[in-house]
Order: sequence, then C-alpha cells, then structure tokens
Amino acid sequence: MERLLTQDGTPTFYHPGYGEAYHPRQGALLQARRLYLEKTLTHLHPAPRVLEVGFGLGVNFRVALESALARGVRLRYLAVEKAPLPKELLAEVPLPLPRAEGVYAEILKAWPEEVFRGPWGELRLVIGDVREVALPLGYATAVYLDPFSPKANPEAWSLGVLWKIRLALRRGGRLATYSAQGAFRRALAQAGFRVHRVPGVGKREWTVGIAVGAPPG
Ligand SMILES: C[S@@+](CC[C@H](N)C(=O)[O-])C[C@H]1O[C@@H](n2cnc3c(N)ncnc32)[C@H](O)[C@@H]1O
Repeated sequence: MERLLTQDGTPTFYHPGYGEAYHPRQGALLQARRLYLEKTLTHLHPAPRVLEVGFGLGVNFRVALESALARGVRLRYLAVEKAPLPKELLAEVPLPLPRAEGVYAEILKAWPEEVFRGPWGELRLVIGDVREVALPLGYATAVYLDPFSPKANPEAWSLGVLWKIRLALRRGGRLATYSAQGAFRRALAQAGFRVHRVPGVGKREWTVGIAVGAPPG
C-alpha cells in the first residue's frame, strides 16, 4: 500500500483493492474532528460510546480518545473491522494528539486483541464483516460509519447493515458519515433515522442521521 500525505499534513494509505485512500485528500485529522467527532456530538458527551464501522488506521479512534482524555471522561469504543492492518503499518500514521498517542502506542504493542482497557476507557475490536457480526443492542451514543465509498464497498452501506446499526444506537444518538449518496440516504431513512444533509469541510455535503424513529423490526 502506498503512503500519502493529506492536505492537513496527516498521513493516510491508498488501498489498491478498493482503488481509494483511507481518508480524503483534504485531511485525515480534519475529517475525524469536524465530521465524526463533532457531528455526532461525541466531543460533548459525558460518557461517549462509539460504534465505528471500519477502524482502518485508527484516526477516528484517536481523535475521540484525545477529546475524552482532554475532558477527563472515559471513552468506550467498539470498532468493526474486516481487515485489521498490521501494527507496523499502523505505526506509520502518527498524529499530533499528545494524549491519545501515548495510549495508542500501548495498544499497538498488543495489536490486534479483542479488547484493550485502561484508565482512559475501552476499545473493543470486532474482527469481521459488519454484515455478519453481532452488535450490542442500544450500545452506542454515536456511530462513525466509515467504510470505503458506497461505490467501492457497497455491502457496508446496505439496508441490512443500517438496520443493525440503528438497533445498536440509543434513541437520539447520531450517525455521521462522509457519504452523501442518494440511495444510501434513502436506506438510512428506512432504517429509522432522520436524515440531515450537512455542509462538509473540503466536500459539499456530509450526512448525519439521528435515531429518532422506533428501531425497525
Ligand atoms: C475508509 S477506511 C476507515 C478509516 C478509519 N475509520 C480511520 O479512522 O482511520 C475503511 C475501512 O473499512 C473496512 N471495511 C470495509 N468493508 C468492511 C466490512 N464489510 N465490514 C467491516 N469493515 C469493513 C476496511 O477494511 C477499512 O479498514
């Protein structure tokens, strides 16, 4: 895989199989902060519980962790990842997040494990395809939906997956994603989310879904 620098100075990798990079060229850190952290209100939650689809290079995780550590709250984070990357490659993506990087260095020593715990909170890594793994009901206060694009990685955006995610999210919880695709947004509404188009940074629109409707099924 080829290592690239995004425009905010943080690195990412290009995945030749999907034909896409793990992060947008505008910035890996920028997207993690402005979209996943802030649009789900993780940065304000007193006890954040994040469900992520696609752990990738751990950028979103570290940004959520940095915010939790800075605020003195514990983070619980459940990441579903079909193809965890080797620790040597993950170590090639340092971020300017002084608190989170110390914890992450410890996590990488044991990577990959089912669960990592510390005074900072807990990271659960569920290795598998999001279509097939079981997700805990009513677990999450926020969902970071971050597979490759619907075009390159369609199975991770399907109605079945969105239903399952809705059941894992508490009522009122928020899902954020960079995709603005119409078919995906319609499926999100069908799965029990109120769908909002929000202005993106370095991209015209992002999508936020709020779990207001009754869970399906
Ligand atoms: C865009 S990258 C995620 C970047 C990551 N969130 C970060 O902060 O660095 C997409 C990730 O989704 C994973 N993925 C793709 N399809 C999946 C599936 N069906 N189930 C679980 N993970 C999947 C890929 O292996 C890849 O690691």
